[in-house]
Order: sequence, then structure tokens, then C-alpha cells
Amino acid sequence: MKIPISQRLLCCADQVAQGARVADIGCDHGYLGIWLLQEGRASYVVASDLREQPLQKAVENSRLFGTSDRMEFHVADGLAAVDPDSVDTIICAGMGGDCMAHILEQAPWVRDPRYTLILQPQTSGNDLRRYLGERGFSIEAERLVRDGGFLYFTILARFGGGTPLSPGEQYLSKQLLESGSELLPEYFDRVINALTKTVEGIRRSKKEHEKLSYFETALQELLEMRKQYDSP
Ligand SMILES: C[S@@+](CC[C@H](N)C(=O)[O-])C[C@H]1O[C@@H](n2cnc3c(N)ncnc32)[C@H](O)[C@@H]1O
Repeated sequence: MKIPISQRLLCCADQVAQGARVADIGCDHGYLGIWLLQEGRASYVVASDLREQPLQKAVENSRLFGTSDRMEFHVADGLAAVDPDSVDTIICAGMGGDCMAHILEQAPWVRDPRYTLILQPQTSGNDLRRYLGERGFSIEAERLVRDGGFLYFTILARFGGGTPLSPGEQYLSKQLLESGSELLPEYFDRVINALTKTVEGIRRSKKEHEKLSYFETALQELLEMRKQYDSP
């Protein structure tokens, strides 16, 4: 029996190299790892989650779908239980970008170009891109996907060669712009609308806000990127 996975998780799975040894951090039900093994894309999966209950569900699912012989399971915070020598690919999906940055920061061993990082934040993507740039990770590619009325982006990153990103690039990276995705106009609209509301809200409140100039700069950059995108 094949496990069904969402378009959003498929977008992560598509970026996994053939034969990869994967750590799925925040695995929840374990669907992604099971799919990767069933498809023969991954050769081994370490499934880890902060909470016992979802992890037990992942264990049950792996039995049900016949992949438990190529999986190991841990209840742990972030990468704490992962043996660095057992994996070459780290996936984090469905958490906030700030949480992912924290998870990477707690595991200095990921600062090694042999690890491929596949990151799909639900929120705070700007914080995650800022972190990656500041810590020297380079974004190799980004992809957009629509699932259930939402747009998600998936970052493929690796340690080495990364440099700090501007506020605008933290919201929309060069790699996402170069992806040529047909969803880019909608992504632009969503980000520009959200930033406009944030900036207007802060200005209306007339209170000091330490991040006002950061949001203003990001918005200006996004508007400029959009102009160039529309008339290259
Ligand atoms: C919304 S689910 C996403 C599940 C799956 N990765 C996906 O994208 O469909 C987020 C999962 O991350 C787990 N989680 C949150 N913080 C975590 C951490 N610091 N370390 C490991 N797992 C974490 C939660 O327990 C939850 O099961």
C-alpha cells in the first residue's frame, strides 16, 4: 500500500537526492520519510519529533506501510538524537523559520557542506533566510508550491559560501526569483501586501518600533524587484 502525501510534502521529497540518508526533523506522522522509502528515493530515514504522540504514530505508520526496517525513531528536540554519520540530508518542514534556525544553531555539525538541508517553513521564512546567510549557509535553490489554498516555499541549502542577505532578499531570495515559478506573481502579491500592512500598522500606532526601518527597507526592495520582474 502506497502512502499518500500532500503537494507540499512532495515539493520537499522532490529535492531529495537518490539514495539519500535522511533525517526528518519534526516528522509528525512520518509520511514524508515513509514515502521516500517506498519510492526508493531514500535508503534510510531517521524520523525525530519533539513529542511522543506523533512519533508513536510515525512508528505505527512505518509498520503499516512496510518501511520500519529502514527507519529509526527518536523523541528529541531538533537534531539532538541524530548521529551525524548516519545521514546526509536534513529535512525540516511544517515549523516556523525561527524554530528551524534554532534547531540548526543547536547542531554545529550541520555546518559542513556534506549535508543537504531541505527547509520548508510555515512562517518566518525571512528569519530563516537571514539566519542562513549570516551563518554562511548558501541557498542553492528555492521552489514554490500551492497546497490547499496556501503557497509554500522550500529551500535547498548547504553550508559554505553564504553571505548576509538584504531585508528584501530575506523575504524573496534571488534563487526563488530565478526559479521561474508561475506562482511568483502571487507570491510577490502576498509578501508585498503583508509587508505593507505591517509597515502601515506600525506607522499608525505612532509608537517606536525597532524593526520599522527593516520592514520599510524590505518593502521598498520588494517593490523594486516586482517592477523589474514585470518589465525585465
Ligand atoms: C506541523 S507539524 C509538521 C509535520 C511534517 N514535518 C509536515 O511538514 O507535514 C510540526 C511537527 O514538528 C514538531 N516539532 C516542533 N518543534 C520541534 C523541535 N524543536 N524538534 C523536533 N520536532 C519539533 C511538532 O511536534 C510537530 O509534530
